[in-house]
Amino acid sequence: MKKSELRIGQIGSGGRGELLGRLAHQPKHGSRVVACCDHNPKTIARCRADFGDTIFTTADYRELVKQDLDAVIIATPDFLHEEQAVAVLEQGLALYLEKPMALTVEGCDRILATAKKHKARLYVGHNMRHMAFVRKMKALIDAGAIGEVKACWCRHFVGHGGDFYFRDWHAERRYTNSLLLQKAAHDIDIIHWLCGGYSRTVNALGALTLYDQLPGRKPNTGTPRKVTVDEMDLTLFPPTKMRGLNHRIDVEDLSSMQMKLSNGVFATYAQCHYTPDYWRNYTVIGTEGRIENFGNGEPGTVVRVWNQRTNFKPKGDVEYKIRTARDMHGGADPLIVAEFLRYVREGGRTDTSPIAARESVAAGCAATESLRHGGVVLKVPPTKAALARWFENGGA
Ligand SMILES: NC(=O)c1ccc[n+]([C@@H]2O[C@H](COP(=O)([O-])OP(=O)(O)OC[C@H]3O[C@@H](n4cnc5c(N)ncnc54)[C@H](O)[C@@H]3O)[C@@H](O)[C@H]2O)c1
Repeated sequence: MKKSELRIGQIGSGGRGELLGRLAHQPKHGSRVVACCDHNPKTIARCRADFGDTIFTTADYRELVKQDLDAVIIATPDFLHEEQAVAVLEQGLALYLEKPMALTVEGCDRILATAKKHKARLYVGHNMRHMAFVRKMKALIDAGAIGEVKACWCRHFVGHGGDFYFRDWHAERRYTNSLLLQKAAHDIDIIHWLCGGYSRTVNALGALTLYDQLPGRKPNTGTPRKVTVDEMDLTLFPPTKMRGLNHRIDVEDLSSMQMKLSNGVFATYAQCHYTPDYWRNYTVIGTEGRIENFGNGEPGTVVRVWNQRTNFKPKGDVEYKIRTARDMHGGADPLIVAEFLRYVREGGRTDTSPIAARESVAAGCAATESLRHGGVVLKVPPTKAALARWFENGGA
């Protein structure tokens, strides 16, 4: 890198960006946020308070990418990712891009091609790969604990769905395409990672079954109205009590998809946005056993393995306690930002992968199309071999 201290810019400094910016701003450890771009003046004022009055601020990302920077973090709404990522990469800057990589497969391929052309380091924020329970499952599967993987089922209880996804832009297809893309991008990526292949055939069913029927909806002003974890009213249940949801809601709140992976593994993923509880449960079945997580990093989280023939045996044959973490992503966020900063400095291999990020978008987009066309079975277009090779060899 050109300097010993990394100079970091941010596009989208509120919401997810607030946390990422604070984690990346480590002046004592060689990285500093020096430029912030956001539409919201209150967010810009908060950035100055966090990072100092001398930082560059703007509401126009095209101004930010012209600054003297080493890396940029993009955490804007999904529909902006493609255009902003291309602008960053064209400057040859390293990029941390939030998931989902883009709204379309073509958008992802354009981002990948731009990173390759400009030899820029591209990193996509699939932080679940840094969650302790996922890593434990991956390590056990890779060590042969369940034999050869044949199937994976994920049940995703998105209990806070109303607060997180139906109050603002997330609820509109034009900004997210679907929640099988916006939310499930994480889980499709984890299914691919645990099972060692990418979806090549998918189908899906689902519908908008509840949130569009609630009264008291509000127009989308463009200003985030999403309720944060700290603001959430947990007594607001059942979800029919919710008010103040986004004026336009046209994404599904209940869906499930099936996938056949490149290596023959069959996977299913099911998502509901109004369960009482908020967590995800994966089970992977192999030729010699089954593995499953209970909890996502909260106190009491365990991973269990069954590898002896039995009837109901709730605790499995072996149980692994998972370290707990205070943040809601199970301690993954400091780890993913640290990995990104290391990658900006040194390059090399990372636990997240831009190709895998593209493949999760490809599967999520195909599943959405299937869901909106009666559950037809669709092929998922693979990444072009030259692009896949370049990134799999470490990229820039
Ligand atoms: N990896 C994770 O666990 C995780 C968690 C939450 C969100 N995300 C991702 O982060 C992204 C942001 O999500 P969020 O929930 O923080 O959204 P948000 O709406 O809360 O925040 C988006 C921020 O971008 C700003 N913004 C909007 N349009 C802009 C523009 N044109 N130029 C500059 N700034 C603009 C907004 O003012 C806001 O500060 C999404 O892509 C989402 O998928 C990832």
